[in-house]
Amino acid sequence: MSEEKKIVTMEELAKHKDHENLWLLIDGKVYDVSKFMDEHPGGDEVLISEAGKDATEAFEDVGHSDDARSLLGPMFVGEIEGGAVSVKQKTAVSTGPAAQGSSNPIFMFLPLILLGAYVAYRYVA
Ligand code: HEM
Repeated sequence: MSEEKKIVTMEELAKHKDHENLWLLIDGKVYDVSKFMDEHPGGDEVLISEAGKDATEAFEDVGHSDDARSLLGPMFVGEIEGGAVSVKQKTAVSTGPAAQGSSNPIFMFLPLILLGAYVAYRYVA
């Protein structure tokens, strides 16, 4: 019933770049910061410089508090078209042959086989 989820295109985002009308893209979500500009402890200039592009990294780099994050809610406009661009891309964990190297049974039992052979030799001799 409720058609809450608005999708914002990059084109639309780019149209909101001035002091009176400024949208920011943070973590795949678009926020209208127009009314917050003058209250921002970090100043309005940094916000203007992030307009029209992905401001996630700039926002995260500052290490904004939970208080700052809670201010985002009321400014929410919609989600960006195509979803969040992942900033935290995970490094693949190696599961290649190198990780399996020591699991070859012949290498695990080789010392045992050698010991067995030595003991057998001693008893026979
Ligand atoms: C809508 C998005 C934003 C909100 C709601 C917000 C809110 C806040 C708040 C509440 C503070 C005070 C410290 C804290 O509680 O963490 C702060 C500080 C700051 N913000 Fe933001 N901020 C936003 C976006 C940005 C962006 C995109 C940048 C950088 C390009 C930025 C740069 C800074 C800086 C540099 C400070 C530190 C100011 C100082 O301590 O002198 N902020 N912000």
